[in-house]
This record gives sequence, structure tokens and C-alpha cells, in this order.
Amino acid sequence: MSAVKMAVQLGPLRLQNPVLVASGTFGYGSEYADLVDLNRLGGIMVKGTTLHPRAGNPMPRMVETAAGCLNSIGLQNVGVEAFVHEKLPFLRQYRCAVIVNIAGDSYEEFEQLAERLDGVEGVHALEMNISCPNQEKGGIHFGVDPEATREVVSRVRQRTRLPLMVKLSPNVTDITVTARAAVDGGADILSLVNTFVGTAIDAKTRRFKLANITGGLSGPAIKPLALYMVWKVAQAVKVPIVGMGGIMNATDAVEFLLAGASAVAIGTANYVNPRVSIEVLEGIEQYLLEQGEKDVEDIVGTVKRCKPESEF
Ligand SMILES: Cc1cc2nc3c(=O)[nH]c(=O)nc-3n(C[C@H](O)[C@H](O)[C@H](O)COP(=O)(O)O)c2cc1C
Repeated sequence: MSAVKMAVQLGPLRLQNPVLVASGTFGYGSEYADLVDLNRLGGIMVKGTTLHPRAGNPMPRMVETAAGCLNSIGLQNVGVEAFVHEKLPFLRQYRCAVIVNIAGDSYEEFEQLAERLDGVEGVHALEMNISCPNQEKGGIHFGVDPEATREVVSRVRQRTRLPLMVKLSPNVTDITVTARAAVDGGADILSLVNTFVGTAIDAKTRRFKLANITGGLSGPAIKPLALYMVWKVAQAVKVPIVGMGGIMNATDAVEFLLAGASAVAIGTANYVNPRVSIEVLEGIEQYLLEQGEKDVEDIVGTVKRCKPESEF
């Protein structure tokens, strides 16, 4: 039993603690179950799920960069029916929340996914991926056009009673515009950020390193950008935020909470250290104890301006 209160309320979704693992970086949970006690996580955001199974983009589709990685996986996944019948029964054994990340090429595909998952035992929330940079059509289009964002979210809202999270793209000029559009459409929670579009070139061979040319940048390189966007969106909307982007340790996670996120998700760091999510959870508890705080919700959005030197 923790000395500090770690449960968080994200609109209609209650989590036992604010530490989630980000979609696409933790498979369907079973891949990590020997290394991580899944019962201790706030929740698992499962791999992006589409209506039909997908093989993903051609390889190579993952490149390491100076401070992170570029991926163009392209939503390889088993499809919603196999998810419900083959993956979900495993996840139901655990007490962490299961958040299904859904992606579609069309409004109808998003609507059908939402309808299929509504009321399915063991699914606690949906996360709409309207921000995948690795899809030829659909994907990011929904996430960079505010009108398309509002429309796709409101259509999904009408098809499900599940808590609805919308994952925003950072590949925009002003993320508060799409944030407001998602909330107007009926999002209960916003999650941000997805990956930043980038590329990598091999000077020796004079070739692009990714078969798909471009990919999504994640990891420590994007942390300052993601942190800024979480802070901006927290000022702009009233719904709770799940913050992510380059969180490698508990201090990074605390910074996102201070910036205004009510929960955090760990992505690329899982590849470096599969146990990082538990270490982040324990580190946040430690931080709260050191700061004399009793409830993690009390530190959300409490960042202050830096002191001018004259005040030191
Ligand atoms: C290999 C890989 C696959 C990903 N797949 C998905 C996905 O299927 N759906 C999604 O919404 N985000 C996906 N993401 C984005 C992550 O969930 C997360 O938003 C992003 O990586 C930023 O967090 P990080 O810097 O901690 O990794 C993927 C990221 C990586 C690295």
C-alpha cells in the first residue's frame, strides 16, 4: 500500500495510477508480461488496431537516431476480431486498464471499430489514433485538419459509450487548434503526442534508410517539444491529458504532470529498459514523498515560472 494516493480520474476513466505504456511500444502486453508485473501499471494502450489485419510497411522500418528512433511500422496488427478473441482474454486477467488504440482509413472504419469494441468486457477506453504519420491515406489526415478531427471524433462518439481518448498529432503549426476540435467532437481525454515526421539518409549508399522514406520520430529528442505541447494544450482545454514523448525516467514523467498532464505514457523507453514503466511509477511515488505531497493529482499543472536572478 502506497503512502501517497496514486489513483487518477481522467474524466470517465479511473486509473489505479498515472503510468501507462504507449501504443505500439508494448505490443498486447503478453510480450512484456515476464518482465513487468502488468497488475502494477495504470494501463496498457495496446498496439494500433484496425478493422482488418495489416502486414505493415516494407522493411527496413525502424532506424536509430542520435536521441531516439524513427519508425514506419505502418500499423502492423492482427485486426479487431483477432484482438478481441486472441489478445484480450490474456489482458483481462490483469487489473490495469486496457485502452484500445484504434486507427482507420475512413470515417466508416473508425465508426465500425468503435461499434465493435463498445461493451466488450475488458476494454476500458478507446484511444483514437488520428495522428499516425506512416499511413498512405487516412491516418494523419484526420489529425492535422481541425474540421476532419471534429467530424471523425463526433462520429465515433455516437457509436460508443466507452471513455474516448483522442491522440493528437504534433505535426501541426498550433496543436491547440486540433485539441479544441477533438474536444468539440466529444473527446473525454486527449493524449499527446504521437511521433514527429522525419527521415534519415545513409551518406555512403546515398539512400534513404527507411523503405517508406519517412517515419515517425520518438524518444528523448522529442521531449522538450512534447512537454511544450502538453503545457499549451492544458491551457487551452478543460479535458484531462495523457502526456507522452521521450519520457525515459520518473523525472521526465513528473515534468509532464507539472506541465498539466494527469497521466503519462512511456513509449520508446520500453525498448531500452523493459522495466522502465515500473521504475517510473516508483520514482513518481518517491518524488511525491520527498515533496511532501499526499496525492499525485495535486501536482498536475503546478509548474511555476522560473525566478528572475534578482529574486534568488
Ligand atoms: C515502434 C513504434 C510504434 C508505434 N505505434 C503506434 C501505434 O500503433 N499507434 C499510436 O497511436 N502510436 C504509435 N506509436 C507512437 C507512440 O505511442 C508514442 O506516441 C510516441 O512514440 C511518443 O512517445 P515516446 O517518445 O515515449 O516513444 C508508435 C511508436 C513507436 C516507436
